[in-house]
Amino acid sequence: NTSLLKLNTGATIRAIGLGTWRSAAATDAYDSVIAALRAGYRHIDTAAIYGNEAEVGRAIRESGVPRGEIFVTTKLWCTQHKEPELALDQSLKRLGLDYVDLYLMHWPVRMRGENMPEGDKIGFPTLPNGKRDIDITDWNFVKTWELMQKLPETGKTRAIGVSNFSINNLKDLLASPGNKIVPAANQVEMHPLLPQQELVDFCHGKGIVIEAYSPLGSADAPILKEPVIIEIAKKNGVSAAQVVISWNVQRGYIVLPKSVNKERIEANLLTFTLTSEDFEAVNNISKVQGTKRIIDPDWEPFKPFV
Ligand code: A2P
Repeated sequence: NTSLLKLNTGATIRAIGLGTWRSAAATDAYDSVIAALRAGYRHIDTAAIYGNEAEVGRAIRESGVPRGEIFVTTKLWCTQHKEPELALDQSLKRLGLDYVDLYLMHWPVRMRGENMPEGDKIGFPTLPNGKRDIDITDWNFVKTWELMQKLPETGKTRAIGVSNFSINNLKDLLASPGNKIVPAANQVEMHPLLPQQELVDFCHGKGIVIEAYSPLGSADAPILKEPVIIEIAKKNGVSAAQVVISWNVQRGYIVLPKSVNKERIEANLLTFTLTSEDFEAVNNISKVQGTKRIIDPDWEPFKPFV
């Protein structure tokens, strides 16, 4: 699948991108990005917190594929909400690239990096009581967005967006007096057990492209064990992963399956069209058994999903 979607900046983006969360820097990140680019991927998604930007960037640079053909996304980590340009500079340095195509606010919450040991401060600062050092008293994501809005004109990123934003948080961001740029994308957990149709509709109505992360349910790919999915896969002579990835594509947004295995990376690009009956059967899974959010970090007292 090489189909393209359009961002509100006018840029195009492939509907399927390679996810790299949990692609280990030491062993997997370089090889999986090379394998993806050889298989025909032109869209790679990473983040500062994944710890693999250097390997992802080196693979992009050494792949032989012209930089201009590849859509690269990375993300601002929570400890750097007050200094997104510095954070982006650091990401670009690790990647070895002059610019990224999309820079996302990874979570709508700031963590205090002040008390972390020296270094890049990309991690999870904790308080003496063991809780994460969350700052909701003198900062919020609207302020972060105001600073991020200066980034496209630097040329260091072509577009900016958000990740893990709920409808309410997007409404607050869009309604803030300092808002001049509508986020190009909102990258969120999205799969048949968490279809979030309201969020999809809201974002599409505002010209914000949805990007589905953990489309297979993240580690151990639990979504692939759903009997309804397995049955549709058998019937169509495809894999369960292809059913799930195709279902996401068919919903009209971007999907970011992660794999470090060459064969699975290749297979994940091969989508097919579900019949309306099968499409509805996948839609129905969460209606029958309820929804399930898999990625739910403890940002207490901040609640990102309400
Ligand atoms: P691996 O990297 O070993 O292929 P998600 O995209 O939801 O984060 O899910 C990724 C998980 O699903 C990873 O553990 C990945 O393992 C596995 N995975 C990716 N593609 C496939 C596939 N086509 N079939 C089975 N498992 C897959």
